[in-house]
Amino acid sequence: MPSLADKRILLGVTGGIAAYKSADLVRRLQDRGATVRVVMTAGAREFVKPLTFQALSGNPVHTDLLDPAAEAAMGHIELAKWADVILIAPASASVMARLAAGMADDLLSTLCLASEAPLVLAPAMNQAMWRHPATQANAQTLQSRGATLLGPDAGSQACGDVGPGRMLEPLDIVDGLINTIAPEQVLKGKKVAITAGPTREALDPVRYLSNHSSGKMGFAIAAAAARAGAEVTLIAGPVRLETPAGVNRVDVVSTEDMHKAAEDAADDSDLFIAAAAVVDFRPAVVANQKIKKEDGSDSDVLQLVKNPDIVAAIAGRTSKRPFVVGFAAETEKVAEHARGKLARKNLDMIIANDVSNPEGGFNSDRNQVILIDDNGEQLLPAALKTELATQLIGLIAARAFPSAE
Ligand code: PMT
Repeated sequence: MPSLADKRILLGVTGGIAAYKSADLVRRLQDRGATVRVVMTAGAREFVKPLTFQALSGNPVHTDLLDPAAEAAMGHIELAKWADVILIAPASASVMARLAAGMADDLLSTLCLASEAPLVLAPAMNQAMWRHPATQANAQTLQSRGATLLGPDAGSQACGDVGPGRMLEPLDIVDGLINTIAPEQVLKGKKVAITAGPTREALDPVRYLSNHSSGKMGFAIAAAAARAGAEVTLIAGPVRLETPAGVNRVDVVSTEDMHKAAEDAADDSDLFIAAAAVVDFRPAVVANQKIKKEDGSDSDVLQLVKNPDIVAAIAGRTSKRPFVVGFAAETEKVAEHARGKLARKNLDMIIANDVSNPEGGFNSDRNQVILIDDNGEQLLPAALKTELATQLIGLIAARAFPSAE
């Protein structure tokens, strides 16, 4: 059973009626083996007494930033370093705004700023407050910096309204937290090769052919695969992204470079995932000097030749063939065109995305995909690429290595 054994969780409780549920949350976290310390804001203390959390957590509750006695026992920087994860539940609209703005005006916000631990929030507020563009912008800002939002749920609210804004139930928060910080090791012992980002084909010393891929989707998948226990080789085209923790990165530029690196990595891989947007054509000749406007006719400057299809070459292997997953970047008839690629390239699975959709595709932080294989189709609704990647790795692992479940 997935567990939080040995995890040190700093639980921030902010002002909201859902604060009473956080008392149960402490118990549920402890049931999974976590050690919990609680920080309460002034608003939270209007709803629940610190003594409740002290009794449940077995630790003193932290409330004030400038309390000499508390600082002498465990200073706020020490507390920030102690945490393996900061979980804020309930997370009010106010705390989300202050964290998005980088404020350090109470103990909880200061701890969040001073800690390098992952930040997970379970929002809880009135539905109109949640829907407000300011709150939505704050949620996006926090997510773009790596915070994870669990919920909110929708339904009837304490104030009588109906809509999104209810805090998730404690058990759902625990499951979401485990998925975020201690995911199931569904790829333990597996070797995974992943292509990501664009390729780039030089025309001359100053120009190239390429596309808008940022690498975010492929890098998120590499990070999720590593978290799931895989030994990951990430073959990255030219992108400006940090290498995910625990991932072995091979940087390439051209399609031929990517092809060679992919073939090398695939020799030793159980799973190959092609998330790269590969440039299909390259110039027949790369000019040694900058091509001058005056050198050619108006219409006949470039002659292109076809590049190898990397994922098709790996899927077409008769030996040392890993389980092969492709992506399909489509702008119309998304599932139909993706199914064509699945068959033509002899893939085991294809993940189709509509790259004309402003909610996803190239360079966006979010994506919406359809997973297609011989079993049928499954739509994964719009989500952050980081969250989608975790879902995809779970689904791919279940299909590629069913006996390992
Ligand atoms: O990088 P981001 O900004 O996060 O954007 C993500 C993404 C849109 C690039 C990604 O989600 C995606 O769709 N990647 C595949 C893009 C693509 O080139 O699709 P395609 O339909 O042209 O190619 C189909 C499959 O063949 C892909 O797996 C591709 O990697 C592979 N291919 C294509 C051509 C080629 N010469 N070699 C290949 O391996």
